[in-house]
Amino acid sequence: MTSIASNLQIDSARLWGTIHETAKFGATPKGGVRRLTLGDEDRQVRDWFKTACEAAGLEVHVDTLGSMFALRKGRDMTKPPVGLGSHLDTQPTGGKFDGVLGTLAALEVVRTLNDAGIETEIPICIVNWTNEEGSRFAPAMMASAAYVGDFTVDDILSRKDADGVAVADALDAIGYRGDSPVGRQRFSSFIELHIEQGPILEAEGKTIGVVDSGQGVLWYDGKITGFESHAGSTPMRLRRNALATLSEIVLAMETIAKKHGPNAVGTIGEAVIAKPSRNVIPGEIAFTVDCRSADAAIMDALDKDLRAAIGEISARRNVEATLDLVWRKPPTHFDPKLVAAVEATAKKLGFSHRRITSGAGHDACNLNTKIPAAMVFVPCKDGVSHNELEDATQADCTAGANVLMHTVLSLAGVAS
Ligand code: GLV
Ligand code: MN
Ligand code: MN
Repeated sequence: MTSIASNLQIDSARLWGTIHETAKFGATPKGGVRRLTLGDEDRQVRDWFKTACEAAGLEVHVDTLGSMFALRKGRDMTKPPVGLGSHLDTQPTGGKFDGVLGTLAALEVVRTLNDAGIETEIPICIVNWTNEEGSRFAPAMMASAAYVGDFTVDDILSRKDADGVAVADALDAIGYRGDSPVGRQRFSSFIELHIEQGPILEAEGKTIGVVDSGQGVLWYDGKITGFESHAGSTPMRLRRNALATLSEIVLAMETIAKKHGPNAVGTIGEAVIAKPSRNVIPGEIAFTVDCRSADAAIMDALDKDLRAAIGEISARRNVEATLDLVWRKPPTHFDPKLVAAVEATAKKLGFSHRRITSGAGHDACNLNTKIPAAMVFVPCKDGVSHNELEDATQADCTAGANVLMHTVLSLAGVAS
């Protein structure tokens, strides 16, 4: 690498500025962001991103699931590019950094290379993946999953949100059903920068997390059917209460996850009473379950224990309960050579670092099943994410973006 490239630093103020500029698309009163995938705020940030990428000289194309690809040419265009990026959609009460940091740091890397007049040997390509969050349409990370062939494109296009709107219609509504076939844009490798979304780096005073693995995920849709009846006149012993049943299931989930801990977590994040009324005993409830572990055997045990608990609780309470597995993502083991490249870069740049397992799912986890992938983490305040209070320091975001840039340069090579 030439010395100009080896001393290169991203523009910290410019990166920080873009993070805060895009946070206005879906800004919430508490300082967070609500930018559900394929909604109008998502269209606004996508338009902003496309304009910024084109202004940086990138060729932008959009695939049929709306993922955006922005290509910076390299000297050898016969080689697939090094991919970098993340996502710009957020949770309903999300923060300014989850996904945004990785996508805008990728843009910042390109802007920095442009300013320094650096051409890479292999092209590089920034990606904004559609629907990483999975809160409007399930599953999470659906576009990168289709990219690697885990789902068909038609299956994903037909997935519906809670209002019955299909992905295909939501894409058309914001003008982002592109014409590039899913999977056409090839990559030689993929690197994603992200906030940790957990407490480890901050607690240990480390700047960079070298992500070598990621938890597997089990997502379920559940339903409990009891019997609606009068809240005043139905004796306690005759009730078939769906909400009381769910309460026991919620506590059972906690007990099961703790039993398999520390390497297991389990959450019931959504529960909807079918026809809620103050003086009616709840008769029907739909709920979701999210269980995770980095150990495949523990994932199997979580599944077995949860099904057994639901069976026992519902039989005892004389209600019907169903639990449908809607998504199973095995644990991720990132590409050892790429992980070593991230580690070597963090070391070379003089940042404190440690290996870490990702608690959250990421598009890089999907990509890793087909191409070498790795991730760079930076700390976030109090380990909080999926919350409007999510925060990270400018210095840590800058450090992460510099590790991203120099890892990409080590993979793409500087044309001499
Ligand atoms: C994605 O944000 C996840 O649920 O891990
Ligand atoms: Mn994310
Ligand atoms: Mn997220």
